[in-house]
Amino acid sequence: MNSDSSLKKAALCLVLLCAAQLVTSVDQNNFKKCDQSSFCRRCRTMQPGSAPFALVEDSFQISTHDVKAILLNKENNVQFTLVLTSLRDNTLRLFINELSPMRPRFQVPFVLNELELNNNIKFHSKNPANISMTIGDEHAVTFTYDPFVLNVFQDEKVVISVNSKGLMKFEHLRTKTDQEEDGAWEESFHSHHDSKPYGPTAVALDFSFPDVDHVYGVPEHADSFALRTTDGGEPYRLYNLDVFEYELDSPMSLYAAIPFVTAHNSRHSVGVFWLNAAETWVDVTRSRSSLTGDVMSKIVSFVSGAGGDSEAPRSSSNVRFMSESGVIDAYLTLGPSPYDVTRQYATLTGTAPLPPYFSLAYHQCRWNYNTQKDVQEVSTQFDTHDMPMDVMWLDIEYTDQKKYFTWDPTKFAHPNEMVNNLTSTGRKLVVIIDPHIKRDAGYFLHDDATNNGYYVKNKDGNDFEGWCWPGSSSYLDFMNPVVRDYLASRYSLDNFPGSSLDVHIWNDMNEPSVFNGPEVTMHKDCKHYGDVEHRELHNIYGFTNVMATFDGLLKRSNYQQRPFVLTRSGFAGSQRFGAIWTGDNMAEWSHLKISLPMCLSLAISGWSFCGADVGGFFKNPDAELFTRWYQTGAYLPFFRGHAHIDTRRREPWLYGAATTALVREALRARYALLPHWYTLFHEHEITGAPVIRPLWFEFPQDTNTFSMENQFLVGNSILVRPVTDEGATQVSVYFPGPQEVWFDRDTYEAFTQTGTVTIAVSISKIPTYQRGGSIVPVRERVRRASSLTLQDPFTLMVALNVNGTAKGSLYLDDGQSYEYRKGEHISLSLSFANSVLTSRFASKGRLPTESWLERVVILGVPHNSYSKARIQSKSLGTTFTEVSYNSGTKSLSVRKPKVNMGEEWTISIE
Ligand code: NOJ
Repeated sequence: MNSDSSLKKAALCLVLLCAAQLVTSVDQNNFKKCDQSSFCRRCRTMQPGSAPFALVEDSFQISTHDVKAILLNKENNVQFTLVLTSLRDNTLRLFINELSPMRPRFQVPFVLNELELNNNIKFHSKNPANISMTIGDEHAVTFTYDPFVLNVFQDEKVVISVNSKGLMKFEHLRTKTDQEEDGAWEESFHSHHDSKPYGPTAVALDFSFPDVDHVYGVPEHADSFALRTTDGGEPYRLYNLDVFEYELDSPMSLYAAIPFVTAHNSRHSVGVFWLNAAETWVDVTRSRSSLTGDVMSKIVSFVSGAGGDSEAPRSSSNVRFMSESGVIDAYLTLGPSPYDVTRQYATLTGTAPLPPYFSLAYHQCRWNYNTQKDVQEVSTQFDTHDMPMDVMWLDIEYTDQKKYFTWDPTKFAHPNEMVNNLTSTGRKLVVIIDPHIKRDAGYFLHDDATNNGYYVKNKDGNDFEGWCWPGSSSYLDFMNPVVRDYLASRYSLDNFPGSSLDVHIWNDMNEPSVFNGPEVTMHKDCKHYGDVEHRELHNIYGFTNVMATFDGLLKRSNYQQRPFVLTRSGFAGSQRFGAIWTGDNMAEWSHLKISLPMCLSLAISGWSFCGADVGGFFKNPDAELFTRWYQTGAYLPFFRGHAHIDTRRREPWLYGAATTALVREALRARYALLPHWYTLFHEHEITGAPVIRPLWFEFPQDTNTFSMENQFLVGNSILVRPVTDEGATQVSVYFPGPQEVWFDRDTYEAFTQTGTVTIAVSISKIPTYQRGGSIVPVRERVRRASSLTLQDPFTLMVALNVNGTAKGSLYLDDGQSYEYRKGEHISLSLSFANSVLTSRFASKGRLPTESWLERVVILGVPHNSYSKARIQSKSLGTTFTEVSYNSGTKSLSVRKPKVNMGEEWTISIE
């Protein structure tokens, strides 16, 4: 062989090797495209304007809180009831169902909070084309009869238009005839057959947002934060699936489904929540105007009686939800600010209850820590390397042959001892409990479930059997309240020997994952309690699993202790039960990058407690990626290192001293900011405001931020720009404004310009900034776990805005119980103005604390004209302390004011 050919051969090998590397991605064939799903195909081939629905003019009944009418399918004369209800806080519900269905159509249970009606509807006017009413002082709606269009106006402009694209679909229940469309009554995917005993039942509806270019939400997808148009491509899919090696920049389904979309422009934000738990596809399109041609001409303004939305919208975004079954149950959250939309959505589906303090700290996981000795050693090594860590995790291998609620008799023979060892150092344990149950006679859970009929049934009425980690498995049917109670009871300390109140729970594989099922999940014609097909409720299976787990953890502590639960699957409302992570990502830069839009999408869709496997689940990160991932993960709400069983061990110290030091810094940065995270989670519980936020959330008029996803805010005051590119020595940071000051949190350098600035980043630098005008509490003491910091002193970082003022808040409690709801907490409102820093109680809550104020750092003090600080508090009276000024960083430090954080005080700089 000459050298040339051996070179060629080497090159070919390299190409093949690269190709082999690239092949590690999802097998698309395992998952449906829209045209492989008959209902999606039927919905998507509809032509705009072809929806055959008209409102029956004389059927309208208007009360102070709702509007009822009959909607007619003109092609077949099937009638539907339409109800538009005015709900508390600028929210409308649009409900459409068959007037007399052959059997009741499924309506999603559990998800909604109790709805509060708003008696603010007033009939306005009626004419041959439409009927109008006002809703409160700011909104109005107009129903056009034929074709049916619903327009919602705010300040005389349409903000949401329903069915203006004429793409509504509602397939009524029927008996099978001889001429049926292919796939409508049964269909197959690969070797899997769906018997579809009830035939075609799809529902679809389009929502247009005039003058809006940016829509967000409908997680979970590994895709951009601002939704792309799906014209000519696949719609976004919402069907909870266990997707092996998921691909990026894709509308494919992942583990969770939240059918909530937010539309935003510089004038307003609105949202649409499509409450449907069946397989759903979402088309996003953009058009010049949403209200064109025929439809436009028929819209008559509720104000002038002619012309309607006189200023024709320049462009609009259109979102069309298409679901396989169920009813149309849509909630329009009318904003108008981003804060309003998240609050309105939270009013519907709930907020996350304040999580236990430890759960906001760092979690150490891998598949698997092999023995209890291994667990102990890893925990100890964190101490040896002076790295804080709060929670050790056990993946499936801790069980006896994947039988949940058991322990491997040799590797984890003394779980109590293991747990005690952890808790004696202030740490916790999380163990995995999946919803599939090993079909093993003699396994108590399987025996109980079999004898009592607790499993989901197949279409023939027998216990459904599928393949998962334990081999042949069946799946608990959480639609049955008795089964939910049963699962909940398994978590009691008596029923789960080896557990304790310091052992918390991870529910995985709850899409549910069925290795040998269609698309790696359960057959749609399986049956649940109440004779409900799996088809109807697939997307809430994981929700119900976690609901039962959360309840079990509450009950095991007699409602004394806040549970921590991590789930992979979820639906709207799952935020009420725990945290979510983005599943099986990869140790690749692109996966680090996508973790930001993925968590931001969840956060603005009600679910803030999100993180990604730090380091990447599959493959082995090199030291740089590993470091950057810790630096990024430290600023996402759920912070856990995790790795696949086939990866190399990667506890941080295994990367050598330099990386260990960098990871230590990242962990410490997280721990220092824990009081702030906790305060933000508390704010979220009360207001629904997301804990991490896209920039436009705080700067809704800054159009430059609308597509931004490589930087975000923690609360309203910390700007984070993670470094997500290999070898990066600089990054662009966008400072939103105007009239803002942003202080580099490491150097205190002030940035006053609005716009993009290039920032140098060494491997130890992750650009984070504190917004001028904010006060952020931090705890600087380094301890091994957060539970040991609860009485530690505070430093207040006061960043001044252009007016020389700042404000912030601090929330404190015992970090674990519900006593805070009875007033055992401290909620402080902090403010700085005219050189005086004050702390005032923001609520009636009181709690004795040993925490005191160790330091105040004031950023943005232009020159030094101060010599001391005068401190006033009830217990200390008036005292004085030193201040020191750093002319380089223009910061002023107040040394040891020593006031107690449990009382009100004033510090005047003089
Ligand atoms: C799949 C989960 O996504 C992953 O995090 C876990 O390690 C494995 N299941 C094994 O339980």
